[in-house]
Amino acid sequence: MQIIIYDNAEQVAQNAAQWVLALVKEKSRPVLGLATGSTPISLYKELVQQYAANRTSFAHVTTFNLDEYYDISEDNPQSYRSFMQQHLFNHIDIDRANTFLPTCNKDQDPRQQGREYERSIKQAGSIDLQILGIGANGHIGFNEPTSSLRSRTRIKTLTQQTLLDNSRLFKANEQQPSLAMTMGIASIMDARYVMLMATGKHKAQAIKQMITEGVSSNCPASILQMHENAVILIDKEAASKLPDHAYYEWVNEQNQRLNERFGLFHKL
Ligand code: PGA
Repeated sequence: MQIIIYDNAEQVAQNAAQWVLALVKEKSRPVLGLATGSTPISLYKELVQQYAANRTSFAHVTTFNLDEYYDISEDNPQSYRSFMQQHLFNHIDIDRANTFLPTCNKDQDPRQQGREYERSIKQAGSIDLQILGIGANGHIGFNEPTSSLRSRTRIKTLTQQTLLDNSRLFKANEQQPSLAMTMGIASIMDARYVMLMATGKHKAQAIKQMITEGVSSNCPASILQMHENAVILIDKEAASKLPDHAYYEWVNEQNQRLNERFGLFHKL
C-alpha cells in the first residue's frame, strides 16, 4: 500500500483529483469506480472546478458507483444517483448513459441485479481506478464487518453504527433505508487501482486497523493489504494513530521522482 499523509483534507482532495484526472487524460475509455459519503464531496468539487477551468472532458468516461440504497427511486434526494448528479454529473460533460449504480427495487431479484452489475463492469473493461471512503467500522462500500472477503455485488443489511453515522444526512421526515446494494469486496479488489480517502480523527482507528493489523473481515478495508495497487490518501488526523510517518514520507519522496518520470499509473 502506498500511504500518503497530507496536512489537511483539502490537500487530500486536490491530490485525489490529480489521480482521477491523470486517468481521464491517459486512457481512451477510462472506467472509474465512484463513492458517495462526505469524504469524496471535496474531490468531486475539485474535479468540477478543474473541468470549468481546463475543460478536461469526461465524455469518454464510464462510471460505476459502489452502492445504492435498496428500493429507492433515483429522483429521491437521498438516492446515491441524486448525490452523484448533484456533486458531479450535472457539472461535467459525462454521458449519463455511461454512469451506473447498483440499483434494485422491490420487484427485482437482488441476486440477479448483482450479477448483472458485475457483468456490466466486465463489459466496460473493468474498473481502472476505484475511489473508496472508509467507515468508522472499517467498511468499504457497504461491505460491513463480517462481509465475505470474496463477496460480489449483492444486498446488505447496514449495521447500527453505519445507520447512526449516516443519520446526520437525513431530515426528520425522511426514512433512512437500512438495506443497500453494494459492490462486494472481490468486486473492489478487481479494480486495477484503488484509492482510499480518509480525513478526520473519527477515522484514525479504522485506518490504523486497516494498515497495521491482520487482514480480517472484521475490518473489510484491511483486504487492501492484498491489492497490488492501493493508494491511501489521508490527512494528519486520520493518520494520527499510525506509526512510521517518517518512513511513509521517505517512500513518497522516492515515488514522486518515479511518478514525474513515468506517470502515476503503470498498469493500465
Ligand atoms: P464518509 O463515509 O465519507 O461519509 O465518512 C465513508 C464511508 O462510509 O465509506
